[in-house]
Amino acid sequence: MKELTPKEIVSELDRYIVGQQDAKRSVAVAIRNRWRRQQLPESIREEVGPKNILMMGPTGVGKTEIARRLASLVGAPFVKVEATKYTEVGYHGRDVESMIRDLLDRAITMVRDEQREVVRQEAERLTEEHLLDLLIPAVETMGESDPEADDRRHRNREKYRTKLREGEMEDRPVELSVTQKIAPQGIFATIGGESMDADTQGFLEKLMPSQSKRRRIPIREARKIMFDEECDRLIDDDKVTELAIQRTQNSGIIFLDELDKLCDSGRAHGPDISRQGVQRDLLPMVEGCTVSTRHGQVSTDHILFIAAGAFHGSKPSDLMPELQGRFPIRVELTDLNKEDFLRILTEPENALTKQHVALMATEGVKISFSSDALSAMAEIAEKLNKSAQSTGARRLYTIMERVVEELSFEASDRSGETVAIDEEFVRDRLSEIAADEDLSRFIL
Ligand SMILES: Nc1ncnc2c1ncn2[C@@H]1O[C@H](COP(=O)(O)OP(=O)(O)OP(=O)(O)O)[C@@H](O)[C@H]1O
Ligand SMILES: [Mg+2]
Repeated sequence: MKELTPKEIVSELDRYIVGQQDAKRSVAVAIRNRWRRQQLPESIREEVGPKNILMMGPTGVGKTEIARRLASLVGAPFVKVEATKYTEVGYHGRDVESMIRDLLDRAITMVRDEQREVVRQEAERLTEEHLLDLLIPAVETMGESDPEADDRRHRNREKYRTKLREGEMEDRPVELSVTQKIAPQGIFATIGGESMDADTQGFLEKLMPSQSKRRRIPIREARKIMFDEECDRLIDDDKVTELAIQRTQNSGIIFLDELDKLCDSGRAHGPDISRQGVQRDLLPMVEGCTVSTRHGQVSTDHILFIAAGAFHGSKPSDLMPELQGRFPIRVELTDLNKEDFLRILTEPENALTKQHVALMATEGVKISFSSDALSAMAEIAEKLNKSAQSTGARRLYTIMERVVEELSFEASDRSGETVAIDEEFVRDRLSEIAADEDLSRFIL
């Protein structure tokens, strides 16, 4: 796990998310606390629980985005789940424990990838030897050896080795036996690959017959297959599982999105029952319990939960009291204003303007946005968010699409041109729609 300080985490998040400093600080501290806990002597380490966070704020202001960016940042096993997903199927919804299994699967992939790096050199060496064996079939030596022939074979082998290393034989076919699992399409299709959880899938895969087939494939492909096989042989599966379980337990993070959708509306039947059911199911996960997976037992005591929700029609106090208490750190994300929109349009590394400049460049059209144009878009976004139901920064997407729509359609015929998008350009395309409330409801 990378050891970023809270300041470093915040400044990494700053690269993608404008404002929302409180939320960034809280998640940064919570992440750092995991590391701090790891430094403690064992006796008190067990006593330190995770400080779960509840992020609240209107729609489209960066809650999910913070979680998404955090995930790629921290190098800890991380899953993001929508709380509503558990209400969808059946009475109690999808098995809540599956989030822990998913987290463990993530950890296993991470640990395995790391272990592959550890054994990479050795696996590459073995792969090369095997390729040479395939290229130069071994000669059966009967009885006494012939030093001259040995020497010749050795030189021949080295010659091939050089050629292999220089990439001269990549297209040359070799014969290789490849083992494949034959998955009868029908079965997986009817169960529905997506909704089937990893455990069931793993179980079914074990039932499938595996078939080994000899295939002629070019060296470039054979090398990959052989390398994977060597890695599998060199990596100790039990050790991977053990490390992955430890990592899941000590640094796993679960992001529970749309938690507000589990609040009930006061009715005692219908969907509310299943929402309450999901809250009840979630409780032990967040409180700390042991979940059995096909790889072993995972304790959730120290897994960090970050929940988020808009909470505009409901309040955190509408959740079950026990569940509320499990999220002691509350952060509010604020509404975005014109200045924020202006920055969101230009500053983040994935900023919309940067995306459109890059997209148009593929057609040979050079576009630029004047600062007046940007501030006009930001202003219109703010105005619309105030007059109709706010969609937060998502409003910028619809506005931007509207502005570049015509250009986008024609771009392939306008290669070589330079288009300056200025305030007039923006107002031309937006004013009429923005002024008409009914129209803008549909279009922007
Ligand atoms: N503060 C921000 N800085 C940069 N981009 C933002 C910001 N807020 C939102 N966005 C952009 O707007 C889009 C929607 O944001 P996000 O998915 O985080 O919304 P949310 O807060 O999770 O809303 P919801 O309650 O609807 O789930 C994202 O694509 C994101 O890039
Ligand atoms: Mg969201």
